[in-house]
Amino acid sequence: MIEFEEVTKRYGEKVAVSNLTLTVENGSVCALIGPSGCGKSTTLRMINRLLEPDEGTIRVDGKALRDYDPAELRLRVGYVIQSVGLLPHMRVWQNISLVPRLLKWTRRRQMARAEELLELVGLDPGEYREKFPRHLSGGEAQRVGVARALAADPPYLLMDEPFGAVDPLTRGVLQEAFRDIQRRLKKTVVLVTHDLDEAIYLGDRIALLKEGELHQFGSAAEVLTHPADEFVREFVGSDRMLRLLNTIDLGPITLRDALNRLLAADGEAIELDAGNGGTRTIDFAALRELVRS
Ligand SMILES: Nc1ncnc2c1ncn2[C@@H]1O[C@H](COP(=O)(O)OP(=O)(O)O)[C@@H](O)[C@H]1O
Ligand SMILES: [Mg+2]
Repeated sequence: MIEFEEVTKRYGEKVAVSNLTLTVENGSVCALIGPSGCGKSTTLRMINRLLEPDEGTIRVDGKALRDYDPAELRLRVGYVIQSVGLLPHMRVWQNISLVPRLLKWTRRRQMARAEELLELVGLDPGEYREKFPRHLSGGEAQRVGVARALAADPPYLLMDEPFGAVDPLTRGVLQEAFRDIQRRLKKTVVLVTHDLDEAIYLGDRIALLKEGELHQFGSAAEVLTHPADEFVREFVGSDRMLRLLNTIDLGPITLRDALNRLLAADGEAIELDAGNGGTRTIDFAALRELVRS
């Protein structure tokens, strides 16, 4: 669990984060979202003590950050950034092994863990292990960045616009891969993004910030159907009910996919894989019921 209690951070006169109180539950993804400059990265970087708050307390596992030994915190909290930050003169497996090396794992154990993680993020270990970062595409480098953050199996993961620097197609693939990994690993994640669809797709809860202030904290469905104020209403946009369809799963697909297929089928009822080996039939009326429920 990560808890912010009345946390304020200033840069000189500028208040970057203002009196923030927020709890991220274990095993959940909290998406921090808001316009550029609203304090997302500042909030994130206080969690691993790259920045210190001016007021208030942040706790991880119930213990105040100021009571942690820095090395202990580094082990508990993995960090993924947009620019990835892979070291150019090190091979992929060595980049993944940065923390294990600090922990003085044997080379053999480091390699085994790197291979396991490459597998997890969808890169063939035999092909990628020995490569240098300059031989990776943006998407591949980002996957290696995620593998590196997971190397010592930290229960917490901080991600600052991790998929922001790649093309939209690759971003979609990476988001899906991350969702799949998270479903298995159940890390406690704080994800910074400025992309509402990404926040909806990946976040169990969404924290919406503006000028350092938290305007709403809730599930995607709550934020979309009950915007707390005018700012949130504007931010989620007039197509918020369409976005809501993205948040509702219908077996292996979302309601939005189902609507798309219904429209493509000219309104004829469609058969969907129900995810349990069987199928189910959906028409517009059934879809509307599902949105209401
Ligand atoms: N090192 C710094 N010195 C002065 N102001 C800063 C510094 N870092 C960030 N800021 C300001 O603090 C505010 C919040 O920044 P940041 O947390 O990076 O926003 P976001 O990640 O949401 O774009 C912005 O107004 C930014 O200009
Ligand atoms: Mg930022």
